[in-house]
Amino acid sequence: MRYKKFKKIAPMGKFIEERVRNYFSNRRSVRKFSDEDVDPKLLDDILLQASKAPTCGNMQLYSVVVTRDAERRAGLSELHFSQPASKAPVLLTVCADFDRFTRWCELSDADAAYDNFLSLTSAFADAVILAQQIVTIAELHGLGTCWLGTAIYNAPAISEYLELPRLTMPVACLAIGWPAEEGTPTERLDLKAFVHEERYRADSDAEILDLYKVKEDYPANRGFVAENGKRNLAQVFAEVRYPRAMNEEFSARLLEWLQGKRR
Ligand SMILES: Cc1cc2nc3c(=O)[nH]c(=O)nc-3n(C[C@H](O)[C@H](O)[C@H](O)COP(=O)(O)O)c2cc1C
Repeated sequence: MRYKKFKKIAPMGKFIEERVRNYFSNRRSVRKFSDEDVDPKLLDDILLQASKAPTCGNMQLYSVVVTRDAERRAGLSELHFSQPASKAPVLLTVCADFDRFTRWCELSDADAAYDNFLSLTSAFADAVILAQQIVTIAELHGLGTCWLGTAIYNAPAISEYLELPRLTMPVACLAIGWPAEEGTPTERLDLKAFVHEERYRADSDAEILDLYKVKEDYPANRGFVAENGKRNLAQVFAEVRYPRAMNEEFSARLLEWLQGKRR
């Protein structure tokens, strides 16, 4: 066994490996939750374990705002456009956060320059990694979870609601609770669609269409095409779910707001 010398990072063994493989193959988002409470101690444990995830320079450029209070949840849910998953008993807003670290530097007479785009990307990466680590650990405990990307769409209003300071940005809201549904399995592209050997491979037009056939043919996706009166799935994505006008409007709003968040 290659890691025999390193007991703390030893492989988990066949039995657990099989169960973990089973978890990853079958995992899916959950958008309906029971009213059962998520024990704060369990949540703290999940957050603590998740904080072992890689982080840029070990700076831990993130913060998590926990929303449990029913009234506060209802207010936050509205800022997520009242999506079904936003009715979960716990909402975790995971934020990119360079404010805490900058303040530490300022208090320590260190010349901190983190109000720039590069620093935003580092903090963003830290927050994304933390968020997904929380999802994985929570799901391994049997909890249901769902990412709410609306945390980014509505970052200015959510930031105000949660009283976030400068140099912070909501990156993900994680809806967490005990599942009241199994969730629906979803399709994925084949490895060959996104793995490139040594250099990026230029796929032909025919190959691109072929790579996305797995999505076009997926029964639920066929349903979306019919429901929306479109000719194909790409049109559902580009013209209904994530259309040009919405992307451009939210982008402009975010960029302007981010400039203001530097001070
Ligand atoms: C960045 C990001 C944003 C997402 N935003 C939402 C959202 O706003 N609402 C929602 O119901 N699901 C959201 N999801 C969940 C995805 O829809 C889901 O992961 C995807 O359809 C694959 O399904 P699965 O997680 O069940 O495998 C988001 C996921 C990610 C990673």
